[in-house]
Amino acid sequence: KWQLSDFAEETIGQIREIVGDRRVICGLSGGVDSSVVAALLYKAIGPQLACILVDNGLLRKAEQADVVKAFTEHFKADLHVVDAGPQFMEALEGISEPQEKRRRIGHQFIEAFKSEATKIESAHFLAQGTLYPDVIESGAAQDGPAATIKLHHNVGGLPEELGFELIEPLRDLFKDEVRRLGIELGLPEDLVWRHPFPGPGLAVRCLGEITEEKLAVLREADAIVVEEVKAAGLYRQTSQTFAVLLPVQSVGVMGDARTYDNCVAVRSVDTDDFMTADWSRLPYDLLAKISTRIINEVKGVNRVCYDISSKPPATIEWE
Ligand code: XMP
Repeated sequence: KWQLSDFAEETIGQIREIVGDRRVICGLSGGVDSSVVAALLYKAIGPQLACILVDNGLLRKAEQADVVKAFTEHFKADLHVVDAGPQFMEALEGISEPQEKRRRIGHQFIEAFKSEATKIESAHFLAQGTLYPDVIESGAAQDGPAATIKLHHNVGGLPEELGFELIEPLRDLFKDEVRRLGIELGLPEDLVWRHPFPGPGLAVRCLGEITEEKLAVLREADAIVVEEVKAAGLYRQTSQTFAVLLPVQSVGVMGDARTYDNCVAVRSVDTDDFMTADWSRLPYDLLAKISTRIINEVKGVNRVCYDISSKPPATIEWE
């Protein structure tokens, strides 16, 4: 019977053989795939691994801190955190068109990653968390229009540009196997079960032009959504659950006063492959609690909506 523990052991052996005494760079995103790659490489080559976390200022609440904690307390890895938030904000100023946002974020990411990577001496390899479904999709995507509907900045380009050889130790695995492997390697449960998060981060969930103020509102609202879904024991059952800040103000009433404030949409989907998805039938009581908490606790929000669109024709993200 095929065992994940055998896979881990075998892969660690192969990595050691391929890498020798050279160094490997691994980009950490906060997601499960890159974390598992880093954990696997750390087991294999320890101090020869350098991890780079580009904080684009578009991460979820506490995301940078969680990753830093996992990779410095548990693994003691050589972790380089690049606080690139200001550069990203500058590049996004005045931009509201989704594809243009993605393009600029992708460009900034490459710049930030490159400038840190070139500081790491004698780096020869770049490790990436490519999974089996990505391998299939990238092959199939070449002759279909679907791949160009949204630009995914975190695939392709970078290793060649930097002259690195690519290591993709998860190429044969599905997501559930990656999660089990992560647990086996000692990663925290919270990290291993975290819902996927797009490379452009909160930028594609903060509709229209982005400002620090809007991001702060979205981050708080999103944290409440996730916290309540976890408290209800439904986080692992849903595939992606998050908040979206709409570029719309609407009228409300608070005490005796009229308000004219922001609207937050809650998005939660169930899916196997992220190509099609259905909206999660979250219990009304849970939705009520989320709504009450967001309106009471997040300043500047007076209305919460639940997104009941399936994919297709809607996409999971709003931008
Ligand atoms: P959509 O919105 O197209 O999303 O239904 C499908 C899945 O892909 C994620 N997504 C992205 N991931 N870079 C990423 O790394 C991106 O630009 C990007 N856009 C969407 C989305 O979160 C969902 O899981």
